[in-house]
Amino acid sequence: MKHVFTTSPVLVFSAFLILGGMQLAGQSAPDCLTCHNDPALQDSAGHKASVDGHTFASSVHGSLPCNACHADIKDFPHPDHIAPVDCKTCHADEATALAGSVHSNAKDHPCTSCHGDAHAIFPKTDARSAVYPLNVPRTCGTCHSNDGMAQKHGLPNVYPAYMDSIHGFALSKEGLLVAASCQSCHGSHHILSHKDPQSATYKTNIPKTCGGCHAKIDADYEQGTHGHAVMRGNLKAPVCTDCHTAHSILQPTEAEFRMQSTPICGSCHKDKLSTYHDTFHSQLGSLGGYVETARCWDCHGAHDVLAASDPRSPIAPANLVVTCGRCHAGANLRFVQYQPHANARDRKLNPALFYVRLFMNLLLASVLTFFVIHTVLWLIRARVDQVHNGSGQGGNHA
Ligand code: HEC
Ligand code: HEC
Ligand code: HEC
Ligand code: HEC
Ligand code: HEC
Ligand code: HEC
Ligand code: HEC
Ligand code: HEC
Ligand code: HEC
Ligand code: HEC
Ligand code: HEC
Repeated sequence: MKHVFTTSPVLVFSAFLILGGMQLAGQSAPDCLTCHNDPALQDSAGHKASVDGHTFASSVHGSLPCNACHADIKDFPHPDHIAPVDCKTCHADEATALAGSVHSNAKDHPCTSCHGDAHAIFPKTDARSAVYPLNVPRTCGTCHSNDGMAQKHGLPNVYPAYMDSIHGFALSKEGLLVAASCQSCHGSHHILSHKDPQSATYKTNIPKTCGGCHAKIDADYEQGTHGHAVMRGNLKAPVCTDCHTAHSILQPTEAEFRMQSTPICGSCHKDKLSTYHDTFHSQLGSLGGYVETARCWDCHGAHDVLAASDPRSPIAPANLVVTCGRCHAGANLRFVQYQPHANARDRKLNPALFYVRLFMNLLLASVLTFFVIHTVLWLIRARVDQVHNGSGQGGNHA
């Protein structure tokens, strides 16, 4: 409320009525509409010059005189060329925010590119409004589903991905008003590139942006190793969108997400992925189709991921019986000795396995060497015999 005198449309409008009301009385909407309500009315260049008086009257500006916006019209007949309307007169906050955003250089009218027909603007809570939550994706999509624009500005074509995501589905198919629409994550007027540290979509701001709705998950995430790392400024650790994406978010219980998520953790933890691949759990999961086996987060958690040395961690030695026991009924201390990341190549980490592997490899090598030597000797002997017998036969025939 601190900017109330510069920004309240109602106050500005009142000032309009008080200061200018008397002279403008003859130029109210009905007067202008005697000509402009005609759907066939065009200007000299052939552009539409009609205004649907009925829609205008029901719009949020319906009680304004026409020249509250077309401020340069003072008299009849009005001039042919009329100055563009400046919404800033009454909506200074939105105009200032827009001027500093990625959309500051819109070619058309900067405000109507999202709010639609200037004479049919409705409150954002009205289903007829272009910025009613259910309509926002389509409104932004008029440009952001456009391949030409995407190429020209090097931007991804996000609209189709979003519409197939859990949020797009919830919004468009279920009409769930609280699901994330474009402006929930990007804002509406002060939209910035994700490379700008001020942006709601800048990497370190994403947990708070998603956490605006997913508050419990954000709290868990911020307690975990990944959240801590990001808050310390380690941009290599993951935020929400590294694991879920921004516009193609899937329902995590879906098989498709479960199949994708191991490679996602593995894309950063390459060593752990390769050791996981050596285990029974991974081989079961890679048999094709969908198998309910242990994936990374079944043992580590998804959001409050913690180091093994942290007593709260599900992989802390004291918690393993519970963690493994979720799937292995009757798991005991002996069972959890099994190492999910056993690495037979690492002597320091797994000495027993290392020497077993070394022994097996040596055994294999000596067996192989024995057979190679044996085979070579056998071949030489066979050849010698052949030459010997062959020369004997040749002599007989000659
Ligand atoms: C006597 C009929 C008449 C009345 C009354 C009238 N207009 Fe117009 N208006 C026109 C015509 C005709 C045009 C097309 C002008 C042209 O030739 O370009 C036009 C054009 C316009 C344009 C568009 C100019 C452009 O560049 O395309 C605006 C805005 C406008 N009028 C606003 C108003 C407002 C506001 C009022 C009331 C204060 C009003 N008019 C009253 C006939 C009228
Ligand atoms: C909320 C502000 C606002 C009000 C109120 C308003 N207009 Fe407009 N009008 C605009 C804008 C914005 C444009 C788009 C062109 C521009 O940027 O000036 C426009 C364009 C027009 C045009 C040009 C044709 C077109 O549709 O682009 C006409 C004619 C017109 N207005 C007439 C009227 C009449 C008649 C009224 C009153 C019934 C009225 N306007 C009330 C904002 C307004
Ligand atoms: C990039 C698209 C976009 C542009 C451009 C845009 N708006 Fe908006 N506007 C929105 C969205 C989306 C909302 C709804 C915000 C919400 O739901 O919180 C909105 C809401 C509003 C509101 C209601 C604010 C509130 O919190 O109640 C006003 C007033 C407004 N816009 C005016 C303007 C003006 C004036 C301009 C031009 C200076 C403009 N807008 C340009 C997208 C846009
Ligand atoms: C003469 C002052 C004035 C001008 C100029 C003006 N508006 Fe408004 N506008 C108002 C008033 C008054 C309201 C209704 C009061 C309110 O609810 O904030 C309003 C409401 C709105 C709303 C709905 C806010 C909501 O509740 O969601 C939008 C969107 C909006 N205006 C956009 C525009 C755009 C776009 C322009 C330029 C084409 C414009 N306005 C020009 C006075 C104005
Ligand atoms: C759940 C949050 C969320 C929703 C909903 C969302 N976005 Fe995004 N969007 C992001 C994030 C975060 C980024 C940053 C890049 C990334 O992580 O992929 C982004 C990036 C973008 C980009 C690329 C620009 C850039 O900064 O690289 C565009 C364009 C975009 N979004 C438009 C939209 C549109 C249009 C919609 C609605 C159809 C939408 N977004 C819905 C979160 C969201
Ligand atoms: C009239 C067309 C148009 C509409 C409508 C529109 N945008 Fe954009 N948007 C653009 C253009 C063009 C750019 C590229 C601007 C530039 O790079 O100069 C852009 C850029 C962006 C970017 C940043 C891309 C970057 O540079 O990283 C985001 C995010 C974005 N838009 C989101 C939205 C959202 C959300 C909406 C709806 C509330 C929306 N846009 C509505 C045309 C539009
Ligand atoms: C405006 C609020 C809002 C914001 C912001 C938001 N979400 Fe959501 N999200 C929802 C709602 C509501 C659902 C439930 C949809 C359903 O179940 O149909 C949901 C569902 C999900 C789901 C599916 C899981 C489930 O329980 O249904 C995931 C995953 C998700 N969101 C991730 C994110 C991520 C990541 C971000 C940030 C990039 C984000 N959300 C931002 C409201 C939001
Ligand atoms: C390291 C990867 C990763 C990060 C970072 C991450 N998630 Fe998740 N998220 C997952 C996985 C994996 C699941 C599936 C968990 C399950 O099925 O038990 C999940 C599940 C979810 C769900 C579904 C509800 C639930 O608890 O199962 C939502 C909603 C969600 N995440 C939102 C978020 C938000 C918001 C953030 C950022 C604050 C975030 N996630 C960060 C991997 C991640
Ligand atoms: C974008 C890369 C990235 C992704 C994706 C990722 N991590 Fe991490 N992870 C890191 C980084 C970086 C650290 C180290 C954080 C720090 O500085 O303490 C870490 C730390 C950890 C730790 C603690 C290790 C330790 O020594 O403290 C565990 C356990 C872990 N991640 C498991 C997972 C699991 C499980 C997933 C998937 C659900 C996952 N990570 C996804 C980058 C990632
Ligand atoms: C069957 C349960 C289980 C699965 C599945 C699993 N882990 Fe582990 N993970 C553990 C246990 C137990 C430890 C601690 C002992 C160790 O380091 O071998 C651990 C250790 C780790 C560590 C080091 C933690 C630390 O504090 O040093 C990281 C990082 C890690 N795992 C990532 C992953 C990733 C990535 C995946 C999936 C590719 C995965 N884990 C799959 C149980 C599992
Ligand atoms: C999400 C469920 C799940 C979790 C959690 C899980 N496993 Fe498994 N595990 C399986 C499934 C399914 C199989 C294959 C079916 C079977 O043999 O029981 C399997 C197989 C095994 C096997 C080989 C077969 C056997 O039963 O002897 C071992 C050893 C094993 N898991 C150890 C562990 C250990 C240790 C943990 C905890 C660190 C753990 N698992 C956590 C699901 C899980």
